[in-house]
Amino acid sequence: MQNVKGTHDLLPLESANYDAITELFSNIATVFGYHSVNPPVIEHAELFSRNVGESSDIVRKEMYNFFDKGGRELALRPEFTAGIIRLIVQNKLYVNNELPLKYYYVGPVFRYDRPQLGRYRQFMQFGVESVGLSSPVNDAEIIAMSYSMLKTLGLNNIALKINTLGDDESRNNYREALKSYFTKYIDNMCEDCKQRLISNPLRILDCKVKEDQQYISNAPKISAYLSANAKARFEMLLNNLKTLNIPYEIDEGLVRGLDYYSDTVFEFHYTNSKGVNYGAIGGGGHYDKLVKQIGGPDMPGFGFSFGVERIYNTLNDEGLLPIKQEAIDIYVMPIGIENQIYGLKIANQLRMNGFLVDMCLEQCKIGNMFKRAEKKGAKFALIIGENEIKNNIVIIKNIASQEQQEIKQEDLLSYFINLTHSCHCHEYEGGDNCNHDNKDCCCHNKDVHQ
Ligand code: HAM
Repeated sequence: MQNVKGTHDLLPLESANYDAITELFSNIATVFGYHSVNPPVIEHAELFSRNVGESSDIVRKEMYNFFDKGGRELALRPEFTAGIIRLIVQNKLYVNNELPLKYYYVGPVFRYDRPQLGRYRQFMQFGVESVGLSSPVNDAEIIAMSYSMLKTLGLNNIALKINTLGDDESRNNYREALKSYFTKYIDNMCEDCKQRLISNPLRILDCKVKEDQQYISNAPKISAYLSANAKARFEMLLNNLKTLNIPYEIDEGLVRGLDYYSDTVFEFHYTNSKGVNYGAIGGGGHYDKLVKQIGGPDMPGFGFSFGVERIYNTLNDEGLLPIKQEAIDIYVMPIGIENQIYGLKIANQLRMNGFLVDMCLEQCKIGNMFKRAEKKGAKFALIIGENEIKNNIVIIKNIASQEQQEIKQEDLLSYFINLTHSCHCHEYEGGDNCNHDNKDCCCHNKDVHQ
């Protein structure tokens, strides 16, 4: 049996990296005041067809919808935003909580897309939604957060593309202008564009068909149709980004593939050093009608989602994956099968104190156990034989230096705790703890120690 087309397995090192990437995003979202929420993977299909938009490819072509045994039409979520808003509205989270509601999420989404480089049918998104406040500073905060998430991973060549779709007035005028412009060329354009001209002419700007680009590149630009309010709002946001030192490029062709957007829209792109571009690594924007449309009060929303596969692939190409090799701290090596249970007792005590410990569970020759310890990237091996048990000691071997010493069993835990508390701060100059008494020194902060 093979995995389903468009899906992919995550093997241990890949899976560890996906976890590390999404944990880093979650930590940054948390310090920005966002809270984790987790809607179900299946929703009523109507949630997406009505709200992501009948004219979007996601709904028209890519949704995994089906009837369950009770005759309900359900869908595997093709995106998170509509589900998050449903969760907010259903649970009336706007009633007793301060606005904006700030939520983040991570999990799989499903689109029956054509599998190709960076394009899967099951992929992972990490995203945030901020609901209940329309302010260019709120927009700037979210864009700054997403930007710092990518920077913290070490990605430096990030291209932030940004555009505004304006308010209702701007968009209505722009739609009319696009309609009359494209009507002249539509007979020569692709079938999808013919459909889009009727359902939502803005979506024509997102067409990827090569032959259509000659018409699209000369189409009217949104900037000429923005109302005074929409223009002022966008300028304010751009000024905010300048103040925060976030570089951006305005891309007037950026309309995004989902129908719920209004005002600010943005995407992150990255061309890696091999020249590969996996498509947008993330994108988002304003959706000011969605909450009301889903049955809640009339309140705006703004958010974005990253495609974790595309970010993983980019980091991998750039040699920037956070975990290069899975490594453990300690490998426990009991000599003789009868001593394994003592080994397990010691291993568990260290594990419960946060050390990554593995142990040889078979009867192995000591040489083989050392080979296993090295293969697992262990920093230390603990040797426990009959003699050691009798004398309440263990032998600790530093794998890198090959130094070996005996230590009393009761001192083992504090030995490793002291070792990991060795100073790794900027004043560390090899070997010993620094002499800082100051409690604020990073030496006193366990989290910075490897
Ligand atoms: P989206 O642009 O459709 O937006 O998807 C977000 C990201 O998911 C994309 O930028 C891309 O990195 C990744 N992605 C999309 N399709 C695929 C695929 N087939 N394979 C791999 N990765 C893919 C949304 O989903 C909106 N809900 C974002 C949002 C949140 N807007 C406001 N709030």
